[in-house]
Amino acid sequence: MNVSRNFILAGALYLLIGISFGIHMGASGDHTMAPLHAHINLLGFTLMTVFGVLYRVFPETGHSSLARAHFWLHLGGTIVLLVMLYLMFAGRIAEEAMFPIAPIAEIAIFVGIALYAYNILKNLK
Ligand code: HEM
Ligand code: HEM
Repeated sequence: MNVSRNFILAGALYLLIGISFGIHMGASGDHTMAPLHAHINLLGFTLMTVFGVLYRVFPETGHSSLARAHFWLHLGGTIVLLVMLYLMFAGRIAEEAMFPIAPIAEIAIFVGIALYAYNILKNLK
């Protein structure tokens, strides 16, 4: 699996979705989805693109099972968290219904980033 390419590709897809929300907010004047828009762009596009570029520039970190685990944890965690945030801001689920799935998704993202940090510590020359 090419972790760097997958991160950059997933980031590009998130950016398409994120700016679509931004354009819709700008056009409609309804900014309810601003935090969702921000986190699709930041957790999705920005972080994933940074990870993808770093794993490409420093292949000793990208060719590691830590990087593969990081990718799946970040992708899975962000999809679940962002879908749940969408449902909450759209008024389809109550804030209380975010528990326990959203915290689990946040922990998945956190564990992925802990693996990323450990990978840098262990493998970055
Ligand atoms: C076509 C591109 C974009 C459009 C039309 C757009 C539009 C918007 C709009 C209308 C808001 C709400 C402002 C408010 O309520 O005060 C907003 C907020 C925000 N946007 Fe964008 N945006 C775009 C791209 C991006 C990108 C690429 C990023 C990050 C990489 C980003 C990050 C943010 C952040 C951090 C906020 C603040 C959210 C908050 O305060 O909760 N936006 N954007
Ligand atoms: C699991 C990861 C994350 C969680 C759970 C999280 C959670 C939150 C929460 C609860 C807010 C306040 C929202 C509100 O007031 O309506 C917020 C705001 C924000 N977060 Fe995150 N965040 C995460 C990751 C990130 C990352 C990675 C970035 C940047 C790369 C980021 C940038 C921001 C920005 C710019 C704001 C808006 C601040 C403002 O408008 O006052 N967040 N986040």
